Amino acid sequence: MMYLFLRPVSKSLSIVALIVGLSSCASKDVSEEPSVPSLVGKNTGYGETSINGPVPQNPEMRLSSDFSRMSATSISSGSRSRKLIALTFDDGPNPSHTPRLLDMLRRRNVKATFYVTGERAANHPDIIRRIVSEGHEIGNHTWTHPNLKKLSDDRVRRELNKTRDAIVNACGVQPRTMRPPYGSMYQKQREWVYREYGYPIVLWDVDPLDWKKPGPSVVAQRLISGTRNGSILLVHDLHGSSVDAMPQTIDTLLRKGYQFVTVSQLIAQKSVAAR
Ligand code: NI
Repeated sequence: MMYLFLRPVSKSLSIVALIVGLSSCASKDVSEEPSVPSLVGKNTGYGETSINGPVPQNPEMRLSSDFSRMSATSISSGSRSRKLIALTFDDGPNPSHTPRLLDMLRRRNVKATFYVTGERAANHPDIIRRIVSEGHEIGNHTWTHPNLKKLSDDRVRRELNKTRDAIVNACGVQPRTMRPPYGSMYQKQREWVYREYGYPIVLWDVDPLDWKKPGPSVVAQRLISGTRNGSILLVHDLHGSSVDAMPQTIDTLLRKGYQFVTVSQLIAQKSVAAR
């Protein structure tokens, strides 16, 4: 309940920001503009999008997310026939970078998928609730981020169960997919996890190696040049420089006509295409 009482404070701030943003189109008086730039740190370009022009909107949020007819246990991209893509963020939530990222996504009406580790989810349930309440999807990325190929089935189960429970405790929503740390999982493990949990194993086809911290513009360029229809983009919201790359990445991909959907929606479209 605490959350319900706290959230309206920032919601009303964002409404104020919207009203000020709209009225500034007609009038030059922006004296009451709230300090939005302080949310974005060094990324000075971020605040300009809504001021200088219309923000590109994501029109595909009513897509189905039913993938019950899916046949494969693992997936690294969606259907190549439509310009739908999924932005995924791993290893969070991070108390400073993830809220900043959520602000960027909300401003653009872009929905993403967060593969959180259970340990961090348990430490930051407020961020987990915000992720879900803003229309994003949460996936299971294990509790301690181990290489699952080195674990017994029972240890894998414990990793998945504890993480699922932390997510459900925080936001009341079950994760629907999982991503193995390092993408590392035997085919046998993929099959029994899919059987027991119903989780498709979600990998990726665009990896900017952002964890090596090559800088926001390099991360953005790698993501933009690697993306095609159905792509699943791998980013880590654990790193500030990766989050800094998002405005350029998202705005460019929106201008190229891509529509951002969650992983479940992307999978559902693929299973529709396969029928
Ligand atoms: Ni990871």
